[in-house]
Amino acid sequence: MHTPCPGSGSPDFYLQGGELYCEQVSLRELVERFGSPLYVYSAKTIRERAQRVRLAFGDDAHICYAVKANSNLSVLRLLHEQGCGFDLVSGGELERLQVAGLPTDQAVFAGVAKQPWEIEAAVAAGLLFFNVESPHELPLLSAAGAAAGKPVSLALRLNPNVEVNTHAYISTGKDENKFGIAINRAAEVVAQIAADPWLQLVGYHVHLGSQLRTVAPYEQAFDRIAAFVDGDPVRSEGVKFYDLGGGFGISYGQGEPLDVAAVANVLLPRLQKRGWTPVVEPGRFLVGDAGVLVTSVLGEKLQGSAKFLLVDAAMNDLMRPALYQAEHPIVPVVPRDGGEMRTVDVVGPVCETGDFLGCARTLPRCQPGDLLAVLAAGAYGASMASNYNSRRRPAEVLVDGEQVRLVRRRETFAQLFENEIDP
Ligand code: LLP
Repeated sequence: MHTPCPGSGSPDFYLQGGELYCEQVSLRELVERFGSPLYVYSAKTIRERAQRVRLAFGDDAHICYAVKANSNLSVLRLLHEQGCGFDLVSGGELERLQVAGLPTDQAVFAGVAKQPWEIEAAVAAGLLFFNVESPHELPLLSAAGAAAGKPVSLALRLNPNVEVNTHAYISTGKDENKFGIAINRAAEVVAQIAADPWLQLVGYHVHLGSQLRTVAPYEQAFDRIAAFVDGDPVRSEGVKFYDLGGGFGISYGQGEPLDVAAVANVLLPRLQKRGWTPVVEPGRFLVGDAGVLVTSVLGEKLQGSAKFLLVDAAMNDLMRPALYQAEHPIVPVVPRDGGEMRTVDVVGPVCETGDFLGCARTLPRCQPGDLLAVLAAGAYGASMASNYNSRRRPAEVLVDGEQVRLVRRRETFAQLFENEIDP
């Protein structure tokens, strides 16, 4: 019998026969095979999320998956199969598409400080459009267009100064954030684009921040952009797209995820009236709940009044708790019946007090070798992992039904050192 995994936003992680499964595969068996710590992703969850966004925004919408959330080549291929394009923020992400043999014509490219080589490479590849957010890009885009002999399509990323309820580090649509072009400066940028034969304004873009759970900011941002566009006919000439960004929040075991259909219901009628096609850039919503980080217990430690549960994953593997005080549910992979519960800080081996995966968590008493799953770790987990403390980044596995694919090998120590030149 299946029991839902408490705290998981995906039904594809569930308990069966006293242990945690991803689709039809036991997480314990995966760790026996591939070692710990280990990222495990469910293909089914990713597909279901992509379909949910498609259903909400309709067949004409461009769903551009935010590659930064999880840039594993196999995840990119899977999302391409679901009809997604991509939201890129670097030349490296463009390289990933190219290496994976994925088309770039459904990709958009944002970024506040694009470099000349990145712009040239993306113009050569051919994108759906660039999201321009800093004035220095215009001459670079124009020159790249002239060199390639084709005008460059671009959407202007505006900063609508909209308040969002999220962590300060992942709020992007306020005046004090570096992103986008302030609306009161946008008129001159539109004029500059209109005057350049190699630049074509095809849309407007906003991205308000990440992990948003309410519709209101999306609505407010659109209304501010629309008011700007209506200020002068030149601002709507040739405009076909409204890119409302990503930021679709998930639950992390508390409260509700963003109601994506509600966002669509509010925006689609407004877009239809103008003949604008929606573009969305979800990252976390597509892959966050689809992944867990499995870690092994090393031991326990009492210190003052604190109890620490020592595990083999750390802030270098999953940075979100240390960086944003993010709370990921943590559950035993093989829960014991009726065991003593205790409140512990789940901490890793990295030499920093900020190295924790969860604080004050109520968990059963654990033995060395027991496994824990850190839930909702599919987004901004592996993609933000580092080698700090000379730790090898975890292996990654993609489960699809009963099929298991190792989609990233654990690093070797030799790979850690290979670029270091002999002194
Ligand atoms: N579009 C743009 C222009 C973005 O900057 C981002 C994320 C997205 C789309 C996708 O946002 P999402 O749908 O995933 O919320 N490392 C942080 C999140 C940083 C998000 C940066 N930009 C975290 O772990 O919470």
